Amino acid sequence: MQVFKEKELLKQSLATKKRTGKTIGLVPTMGALHEGHLHLVKEAIKSCDQVVVSIFVNPTQFDKPEDLEKYPRNLEKDINLLREVSEEIFVFTPNANELYGDFIVSEHFDFEGLDIVMEGKHRTGHFDGVGTVVKLLFNTVEPDKAFFGEKDYQQLQIIRKLTEIEHLPVEIIGCPILREESGLARSSRNERLNDLQREKAAFIFETLKETKTLFGTKSANYINDWVEQQFRNYPFLELEYFEISDAKTLKKLTEKREGETYRAFIAAYAGDIRLIDNLALNN
Ligand code: PAF
Repeated sequence: MQVFKEKELLKQSLATKKRTGKTIGLVPTMGALHEGHLHLVKEAIKSCDQVVVSIFVNPTQFDKPEDLEKYPRNLEKDINLLREVSEEIFVFTPNANELYGDFIVSEHFDFEGLDIVMEGKHRTGHFDGVGTVVKLLFNTVEPDKAFFGEKDYQQLQIIRKLTEIEHLPVEIIGCPILREESGLARSSRNERLNDLQREKAAFIFETLKETKTLFGTKSANYINDWVEQQFRNYPFLELEYFEISDAKTLKKLTEKREGETYRAFIAAYAGDIRLIDNLALNN
């Protein structure tokens, strides 16, 4: 396993691979790796000759300093988990100045409205931060393919848009959400949940599944009210938003249209821990 802290050394090693026609897969992460990440890494290994996993807690995508501070970090554990998957992986763990240079600031992008709903509405500047770091990582690694989880479905759509507007020659691969046995979507933040919170947080996926059933016969307004009521009656979680949106444009559903696909999205707090999840409703 090779661990790179410097861009130049990583680029040199990748150049050697690229010269012999090897394809490169990138799995960008912020560390605190779990089964969901390892699944992305295994998918990358299946379809690329050399896999790079970046581990970098990106300061520009956090709107709350305390959230950045509390984000779980355990590099040694992450490296050991990756080692169990494959000794051939390149791990890229730059510090902020190495990746950004002197100025650790976001670039501003026009994501054509994808960034003003849901996560974007509740986390100011978040997607400019994500776009900035992903562009920096793409420019450093120049991967053929990059792998992202559907748990952050809005992020996935925004990264697809980023490659389009910035003309970045990388194929974006979205991978399905991995869940704990209870149905709770796997997330690095789950590590911060206590046992009771972890058990009770399964309610998010339960609610999404019921939404899917209701979607067959009920209107979006009806389902919205129903979900809000469910959360009002459930003392363990605080609903931040529930939305049914077009799976491509992420525009909020007002009227169902034939041939379009829709997804339901939830963000909720367990104590001070923010959890998100989503589910395809009609495919
Ligand atoms: O999904 C994440 O972990 C992060 O948003 C990403 C894509 C690694 C950018 O920092």
